[in-house]
Amino acid sequence: MKPFLKWAGNKFAIIDRIKAVLPAGNRLIEPFAGSAAVFLNTDFDSAILSDVNEDLMTLYHYLQKDGERFIGYCNTFFAKEMNDSDTYYQFRKMFNSLTDARLRAALFLYFNRHGYNGLCRYNNKGEFNVPFGRYTKPYFPAEEMAQFHRKIQGVTLLKQGFVETMEMAQPGDVIYCDPPYVPLTETANFTSYSSGGFGIKEQQTLAELAKSLSKKGVHVVISNHDTTFTQTAYESAKIVSFQVRRFISCKGDARGQANEMLALFGDEEILAG
Ligand SMILES: C[S@@+](CC[C@H](N)C(=O)[O-])C[C@H]1O[C@@H](n2cnc3c(N)ncnc32)[C@H](O)[C@@H]1O
Repeated sequence: MKPFLKWAGNKFAIIDRIKAVLPAGNRLIEPFAGSAAVFLNTDFDSAILSDVNEDLMTLYHYLQKDGERFIGYCNTFFAKEMNDSDTYYQFRKMFNSLTDARLRAALFLYFNRHGYNGLCRYNNKGEFNVPFGRYTKPYFPAEEMAQFHRKIQGVTLLKQGFVETMEMAQPGDVIYCDPPYVPLTETANFTSYSSGGFGIKEQQTLAELAKSLSKKGVHVVISNHDTTFTQTAYESAKIVSFQVRRFISCKGDARGQANEMLALFGDEEILAG
């Protein structure tokens, strides 16, 4: 099942690799939900999806609650005459001072398909600031949204940081973590590196939480780049490493190989199976 959102770092392309190592369990917890590629392609009895991005979680909330009605409402923003830069920038300005949560959610989806590269970026005042994308005919993901609506019934949706979400785990739960990547090359300034507020401190906290939860019968799988830093941070885990082809230039003309890893924290017997 394809996510309806474009999302940087989404794991749809490597879903089979992840499913191959994800243990079975009572409940799936995704504390870095993003476009929720893993949740959409697995079948746990129950699930918690959470992310620190409030706009994302509000969009999921309306889609969960209102389904077809909300999908129809979002579709009205995909009319041909709305795909021009003046309208885009008017919507962006309006979005940044909006209090109507449902309209904000619909505009967030409009930006995802009409904005540059489907990026989601805010300035330090918290204002959405992605430029217009100039697509000839932005795709409206009606069917993908309808599937998401059906799949998300009964799922707990939370807007919060990963620590609060991971602390909700009970023995028998499976947590899939997909944090912002650590940098591929470990530059001297990694200690001050921070992507959206996620720096070395948060990476270490996540690794420590995974380790301590695994001792309480919770299975934790973390995706990240395979670097010296992650090898050390996840040293108590079983590591599966593989190569992924991805764009490394924003112009899209230079493709490179990057090593991706999955760190499996948990019961040896289950991980071996
Ligand atoms: C690599 S993306 C996840 C992609 C997702 N697995 C998918 O397939 O689309 C990382 C996500 O972590 C979220 N995030 C960043 N910092 C966070 C934090 N401190 N707590 C929870 N979520 C956070 C971002 O908003 C983003 O959606």
